Amino acid sequence: TAQLLLWALIGYGLGSVPYGMIVAKVMGLGNLRQIGSGNIGATNVLRTGNKAAAAVTLLFDAGKGAVAVLLARAFAGEDAAQLAALAAFVGHCYPVWLRFRGGKGVATFLGLWLALAWPVGIACCLTWLAAAAVTRISSMGALMAAASSTIWAVFLGYGTTFLLGVILTVMIYWRHRANIARIRAGTEPRIGRS
Ligand code: G3P
Repeated sequence: TAQLLLWALIGYGLGSVPYGMIVAKVMGLGNLRQIGSGNIGATNVLRTGNKAAAAVTLLFDAGKGAVAVLLARAFAGEDAAQLAALAAFVGHCYPVWLRFRGGKGVATFLGLWLALAWPVGIACCLTWLAAAAVTRISSMGALMAAASSTIWAVFLGYGTTFLLGVILTVMIYWRHRANIARIRAGTEPRIGRS
């Protein structure tokens, strides 16, 4: 329906704002495309050495996913909330403003889950933290959190989000294919070491 389409558009619009690029520019940290992985996310902002900038990026990229869900839910209900969640994630990964070359969606993924089904969001955050703590590799945190997300959703009683969870997981793996290749080659950088 027209209402769902509207929330997809709003979700995409919210998700497509590249906070990492904006934060890096405003704080004078340079062009993220020329730093580390060239990605626009918090992990790559951290490679500039500025932890506060990385934290702000994480917060805003997660926040936009949460805001998309909460707005859509408040005005149009649960189906619209799920659609807005997906649209925000797509917006982050494929923003029209960057000629559709956006980020990998991890912060937005965590934020949208926290708003959509908070126990799943918490479980995904903890999974990310555990995997990242053990491996010191940010993308490993993301891949483990994504892989476990649908399991958490079903296990914690949010089976209605299963399809959305599968789509998000597949997209996260697709967006991390360069990272996966580096992990396999043993060349993926560790957190805190450039
Ligand atoms: O949030 C994205 C993260 O999983 C990987 O980022 O910059 O190491 O490719 P990056």
